[in-house]
Order: sequence, then C-alpha cells, then structure tokens
Amino acid sequence: GAGLLVLALYLISSGSSSEQHGKEPPGPRPLPLLGNLLQLDLKRLDLALYELSKKYGSVFTVHLGPKKMVVLAGYKAVKEALVNHAEDFGERGILPIAAELNNGHGIVFSNGDSWKEMRRFALTNLRDYGMGKKASEEKIIEEVRYLIEVFEEQKGKAFDTTQPMNYAVSNIICSIVFGSRFEYSDPHFRNNVDRVNETIRLGGTIPIQFTNMFPWLGPFLKTRTRMLTNNNSNKQEMRKLVRGLMETLNPQMCRGFIDSFLVRKQTLEKSGNMSSHYHNENLIQSVMNLFAAGTDTTSTTLRWGLMLMAKYPKIQDQVQEEISKVIGCRHPLVEDRKNMPYTDAVIHETQRLANIVPMAIPHITSRDITFQGYLIKKGTFVTPLLTSVLCDESEWESPQNFNPAHFLDENGQFVKKDAFMPFSAGRRVCLGEGLARMELFIFFTSLLQHFRFSPPPGVTEEDLDLKPSVGFTLSPSHHQLCAVTRV
Ligand code: HEM
Repeated sequence: GAGLLVLALYLISSGSSSEQHGKEPPGPRPLPLLGNLLQLDLKRLDLALYELSKKYGSVFTVHLGPKKMVVLAGYKAVKEALVNHAEDFGERGILPIAAELNNGHGIVFSNGDSWKEMRRFALTNLRDYGMGKKASEEKIIEEVRYLIEVFEEQKGKAFDTTQPMNYAVSNIICSIVFGSRFEYSDPHFRNNVDRVNETIRLGGTIPIQFTNMFPWLGPFLKTRTRMLTNNNSNKQEMRKLVRGLMETLNPQMCRGFIDSFLVRKQTLEKSGNMSSHYHNENLIQSVMNLFAAGTDTTSTTLRWGLMLMAKYPKIQDQVQEEISKVIGCRHPLVEDRKNMPYTDAVIHETQRLANIVPMAIPHITSRDITFQGYLIKKGTFVTPLLTSVLCDESEWESPQNFNPAHFLDENGQFVKKDAFMPFSAGRRVCLGEGLARMELFIFFTSLLQHFRFSPPPGVTEEDLDLKPSVGFTLSPSHHQLCAVTRV
C-alpha cells in the first residue's frame, strides 16, 4: 500500500513538473495586433523592459506588436543563458530591417556555417591586422596624433568632438580592412563615415521599430528609405574600393582583411571549390559590418569618457596624475594599462554607465529550451537586456552613479567584475572586444595626457547632461567641450 502511495505521489509530482516545463515565461497580457505597445515607452525601450523585469522576474515575455520576444534581465539570467546555454541562445535573431540591409551575409546578421566561417576569418584577421601585432598598436598611436592635431586646432575653444572622433576611430577599421588610412578632410571618406553613423542612429528610431513590428509599413516610412539609400551608397563605394585593391593584389603581401579574403577566395576557386562562403557578397557585407559595429560604438564610448571627465574634474585630476606618474611625456602603450588601475577603472566605469548597446543585438533560440523552469520555443526572439546587467542592483554598489571604485579594491588595485558585460557574452560576444579595449585605452590616455577637458564658458559641470540621445546606441546628447592643451 505504502509503495503504491509513493508511486502515486511520484507520478503526480513528475506530472506537475512537466506541466511547469511547458509554461512559457510570464509577461503582461498582450492586446491583439498591438501586443504590449501601449505599456511600453519605445523611446527608451530598454528602461521600460527593465521596469517590467521588476514585476515579472528575470525571464519574461513581451509582445512588440504581433512579435513575441523573451527578455533576459539581470546578470544571473543573462550569463546563464548566453554562457551556460551558449548553443541554445547563440543564434542571431534577424529583424526585417536587418534582413533588408544584410541579406543574410556578413557576420552580424547571419547564422549557420556562413556566419561561423566569416566570424572565424574576421577574428583571425583582426588578430593579424588589428590587435595581435605590435604594428597595430602603432596604427592606433599614429591615428591619435592626427586626432590631437584637430583638437589643438580648436585652441581651447568649445567644439563638438563627434566628427573628428568618428573619423579617427573609423580610420582604425580602414587600416585593418584596406591597409591604409584617409585624411579627415577627404570628402568621400567623410561622407562614408557620416552615412554609416547616420544609418546606425536611424536603426534605433521609432519608425524603424515600427517597420520591424509591421513590415508592411516599410514602404511608407521615409526613415527606412533613408537607411536603405545610405546603405546602397556605401555598398557601391565599398565595391569600388574592393575593385581598386583587386587590381593591385599581391598574394605575398596582403595589406589587410580585404586582400586576405580575396586571396582565400582565389585559392578556393583554383582548387575547384565553387560553393565556398568566400564570395563577394560575404566580403562586402563583412567589411560593412566591421565599419558599422566598430566605429560608432568605440567613438561614442570615448565621447562619453571625455564628457564624464569634464563633468567630474576631480576624477580627471586623478587620471592625469596617474598618467604623469606612469607614462610621463612619451606616448601611452597598451602595456601601461596594468600599471594604471585607476585609469583602467575609469574606462570600465565609463562603459558600464554609458551602457551604449542597451539591448545587445537580438538573439533567437536554436531549439525548444527549458530555461529557469520555462519553455522557450525554438525560433523565439531573445533580448539580453544589458541595461539590467550593467545596472544590476545586486552586482553594483551604486549603479546609477559614475563611481570608478566599482572596479577598485581597498588598495586601489583594479578588480575585474563578471557583471561588466558591455560587449555581451557567449557565442555572439562582440567580435571586436579586444580591439575596442585597446583603442579605448590608447585614445583615452593620449587625449588626457595632452588636454584638460572642461565644459564651455558659461556652462557648469552640473549642466553637462548625462541623459543620452537614443539611436541604436545610447550616445551623449549634443554638447561641446573645451580641450585646453596641458603644459
Ligand atoms: C557585436 C558591443 C566595438 C564588431 C556586438 C554586440 C555588442 C557589442 C553588445 C552584440 C553581442 C550579442 O549579440 O550579444 C560593442 C561595444 C564596442 C564594440 C560596446 C566598443 C566600445 C566593436 C568593434 C568591432 C565590433 C571595434 C569591430 C572591429 C562586432 C561584430 C559583432 C559585434 C562583428 C557581431 C558578432 C556576431 O554576431 O557574431 N558588439 N562593440 N564591435 N561587434 Fe561589437
């Protein structure tokens, strides 16, 4: 009798747990067609979702119009999904606008074998042309000199750092992919960089969010047309540049990513492999991805850094003291970082607070998954809410403040934090993380070595507004700074 009772209890409990496995993550009740749109402020969707996580927990469902999306909130859930279940959560969710712009090619908005091959190839090449070799560090150091010249030309008067910063950072990608840089005054170069950045900014606007939810709206929306036109112009320019490199290609002396790609393509074609992933569309799209993902992000972070220095002059003092002590007058090198815990902490804290890619880039589940007791079906869009990780109250002492001590121990030594995830994590972690970190360190220390940053005359430190301007990334809202040369 007792045995039967135990068996019955076992069956009941296993029955109820399998029911639990069948339950989808909770969330606000959706209206037909509109989903939860009426409850969500699309201007700061990341913050609206962060608020919902306080009610529904670390895994929940929202409906953006008719589209269902699962949100992962807080360090623990994001890490568990992206790192511990890397394969299940490691595919890219491709929104309609991204599909139109990329056609499934390249690195950022592709999946499967093509993605794997392009990502691997880009990583190897970033190592060879971007961050591994000593020469690449020198490229960044060389580029900083041009940027410093532009800042010096302002003679301490207030100016907007956006364009020079974009051109300098874009030139790092140019030297990796083409093997050469451009003058900031070159009108073609300026146009290309400005167009890439405009496209990224438009990517986060409300009309584009609407085309992603209701693709039939697309043809009526000017913003979408503008994005597509920009993208086509840049593609054409890129094709021209690739043709130029092709004409002067020397397989023994690859100048950069594009040469390496062309050589690999030719080798595969010669060996009769016609179905390889090394075709022109993948080349053009991968290079465009490196520009789009690698320019605005790094440049925006640096601009946040300078603005924060102007806003918090005492912190700027401490960075400059450390620069004087460790570097003096020679130019900064990557290896200085380990001797500069305070500056390292300031750069990390800038990235944490600036939170420039607040919702990462959408992922999609590769199979039916049971995650934290909930069923998430194959093909569900998943957003790792980086805002909720970088501001996670259980991970950071004062998440809303600019506080470099988040990354320092009581002896002033640098401490790594697992919840520092501005580059996301797992299989789709930012491919340019190593390069970006190197750029941030050299650009930031070199600029602070040369200049004292302050608000324009008549503007107080309190006036410098940390409320971001929202595009696909969160950037500092329009402002000017004075860069006074230090003696
Ligand atoms: C993806 C952040 C700089 C190339 C990403 C993602 C984030 C990110 C959050 C999405 C990861 C995900 O899907 O979960 C940043 C930040 C940067 C930066 C904060 C600078 C401060 C760069 C640079 C490059 C780059 C310099 C190129 C050289 C890429 C690429 C992807 C990516 C190609 C797509 C990876 C894939 O889908 O496999 N980045 N990024 N990023 N990033 Fe970055």
